[in-house]
Amino acid sequence: MKVNLKTADPAEIKTQALIVFIFAEDRPGLARRPELAGIEGLISPRLKAKDFTARHLSLLTLFPEHRPGPERVILMGLGPEKEYSPDKLRPAAAKAAQAARDLALKEASLILPPGRPGLDDMAVIAETAALGARLGMYQYDELKTNDQDKKKPLRSLTLIRTETGKTARLRAALEAAGTAAEAIRTVRDLVNRPANLLYPESLAAEARKLAGRVGLKVKVLDMAAARRRGMGAFLGVAQGSLRPGRIIIIEYMGAGPRQRPVALIGKAITFDSGGLNLKQPEGMVTMKTDMAGGAAVLGVVTAAARMELKVNLVAIIPAAENMPDGAAYRPGDVLTTMSKQTVEISNTDAEGRLILADGLTLASEYKPKTVIDIATLTGACAVALGQKCAGLFGNDPKLIEVLKKAGETSGDRVWPMPLFDDYFDLLKSEVADFKNAGTRFGGAITAGLFLKKFVGRTAWAHLDIAGPARAEKAAPDTPAGGTGFGVNLLLHYLRGL
Ligand code: BES
Ligand code: MN
Ligand code: ZN
Repeated sequence: MKVNLKTADPAEIKTQALIVFIFAEDRPGLARRPELAGIEGLISPRLKAKDFTARHLSLLTLFPEHRPGPERVILMGLGPEKEYSPDKLRPAAAKAAQAARDLALKEASLILPPGRPGLDDMAVIAETAALGARLGMYQYDELKTNDQDKKKPLRSLTLIRTETGKTARLRAALEAAGTAAEAIRTVRDLVNRPANLLYPESLAAEARKLAGRVGLKVKVLDMAAARRRGMGAFLGVAQGSLRPGRIIIIEYMGAGPRQRPVALIGKAITFDSGGLNLKQPEGMVTMKTDMAGGAAVLGVVTAAARMELKVNLVAIIPAAENMPDGAAYRPGDVLTTMSKQTVEISNTDAEGRLILADGLTLASEYKPKTVIDIATLTGACAVALGQKCAGLFGNDPKLIEVLKKAGETSGDRVWPMPLFDDYFDLLKSEVADFKNAGTRFGGAITAGLFLKKFVGRTAWAHLDIAGPARAEKAAPDTPAGGTGFGVNLLLHYLRGL
């Protein structure tokens, strides 16, 4: 979908559908919305008759009689002004664009809503609306062979501003929204792709293709290279699958060679059966999603390059399949990690932290100034925070604060979680330096404490996205399935540096 920007009077716009956002306070008249004066005669009677309440995500399609002008007007409710925020606007834009698409229209226009105290920056408004509309067009249809099962997205969406003024910032915001949306779409495709089609080697091939498009080189370590580098934790997980593991490394230098990079490490278990500690069927069926952190990192580094962000990045994506075959690692095995620390395997289903451990050690070779890992790491985190929020752990209060802020505008909500030192007792081992898994109590915290052993003193944050990486139910801005969580969060973080 192409997104254009135009300055125009709403009454004069020739479009198949004109999307108009309404606040609860705009009822019963439209006195607070002078920019809508030209179509007030169409809308106000419907507000007065309470056909449209402007409840958040409420929708009403109207058919103006005047020609020329819009063929349809789609009213979309934003709810009360005091609750106005990017998190309200994004799904509203998505749902309105879907309504136009579902009418089988080719194009639509959208009047940018005005600023209000909760959201007053027009560039943020434009970016949020454009991102929402684009995300609303997403569907995973690469495996559908019947065209009737695919919805044709709108070909174009024109964003309408009602006053002239500086456009450069708005255009930059729309470009950022386009790049972020494209990255999220790619990540959703990868997360939704079944594990028989997406495995470590094919993920590495995808990384080469995507990075190649933005002029980035990809380095891939195979099993032999991982062995040479002493990555015993990664190899322990990977050895149980017929599909060999890969470690994908992508560097982006946007800030010159002297600046230390931000390292991003993403868990890419292309399928998590649990290994010999086999999962129950209900828990296993969605485990193609277990590479969502790695896919997000791939999306972020390619989008950062496209945006030409002035940062240096090193993206590290350990990719493996966790399977229970004859070569699989066993409960009780002891693995020697790349850091030389030894780990007793108390549960083969706690595999994510093992591949991340070696990923973190590898990252330290790049002397990063900041390290962020992102992983579908623990069911416990999803239990604690639910499915629309990631757990945020780390050793640097400032980094945590900045990431939490990025969560508020990006749509990827995160919440701080503790790393209580004494909980590390749960990982005590009789035979090795420590174990890979504790009890079910505080499972997200012990996972974080395990990772901390591989970080050293560098500023580090860990995002546990086991909850939000996948949506159980469709929402306006994401169908059920892979959400692309983390992409916009990390892009907002990097853009703010
Ligand atoms: N990939 C899972 C975590 C997960 C669970 C992600 C549900 C998304 C939805 C991870 O590898 C895992 O199996 N974790 C175990 C850890 C336990 C064995 C200590 C868990 O959460 O049960
Ligand atoms: Mn697991
Ligand atoms: Zn896993």
